Amino acid sequence: MSLICFASGKGAPGVTLTALGFAAARANAGRRVVLLEADKSGGTLAVRYQLPRQPGLITLAAAGRHGLSRDEIWNHAQELPGGLAAIVAPEREDRTSATLRSDGQRLGRWLDDISDIEVIADCGRIDSDALTSGVPSQADTVYLLARPTAEEIQPAAALAAAALDRGISVSWVLVGDRPHDPSEIASVTGVPVASVLPDDRRAAQALLEGRADGRGKRNRLQRAITALATEGADAPTTVEIADSVANEHSDADPAPLASLAGESVR
Ligand SMILES: Nc1ncnc2c1ncn2[C@@H]1O[C@H](COP(=O)(O)OP(=O)(O)OP(=O)(O)O)[C@@H](O)[C@H]1O
Ligand SMILES: [Mg+2]
Repeated sequence: MSLICFASGKGAPGVTLTALGFAAARANAGRRVVLLEADKSGGTLAVRYQLPRQPGLITLAAAGRHGLSRDEIWNHAQELPGGLAAIVAPEREDRTSATLRSDGQRLGRWLDDISDIEVIADCGRIDSDALTSGVPSQADTVYLLARPTAEEIQPAAALAAAALDRGISVSWVLVGDRPHDPSEIASVTGVPVASVLPDDRRAAQALLEGRADGRGKRNRLQRAITALATEGADAPTTVEIADSVANEHSDADPAPLASLAGESVR
């Protein structure tokens, strides 16, 4: 197993942050890991870390058209601060989406075939086409990020169904546990919950900026992502959320998940 995709169906629940933290935790655990930016809305890492735009997704896709050998992957990766290897995408939406459309499936297949390197892909917000002809179509595992609201779960549940149809293992990574709790999401959608991350904007911001958040060296969000990366990949486990700071979003008048019942994927 070597291609693990993070994606969402709606909103911006934290796909990029979670993929980055997951990849870093796997690398720290001693695995050979590459983070791949495969979000059709464009990359963010090169801008954020002031890296050159190439090498990256574009050079990898171009090389892939003529056949690649496995060690060539490193020619297209750059080092992020902290040492994680990343294949960056251009920030321009048109270039990235065109490349993923023309080369995504082939690249996904090639990346998945490299057995001793784990590729962790930030696929951003996806649609069902991505699961038939994009990078995620070749994934071993897709983690779908969503806040547990009907608005975010509903579109993502349809994606989960499409992934399962293709034999791709899929599970939820929920951000917060309100208004709908994880067991309800799992039973209504038929998709297991791999992790429940604290919904904590301050911790997320601290992680993005690579600093402690003032509440401890490794904040609870980082611990939850690390637990998913080091324990949850093979046998999904739910990470307990300890207290109310885990939820920043109101649970007043939640839209019912019952409306999803007809879309249960199992
Ligand atoms: N677990 C979390 N709790 C609260 N806020 C979060 C969490 N994870 C990320 N965020 C915040 O949400 C915002 C978006 O994060 P991120 O860029 O990782 O999301 P995304 O799903 O990749 O969004 P986009 O669609 O813009 O690529 C950031 O401001 C980040 O700090
Ligand atoms: Mg993102």
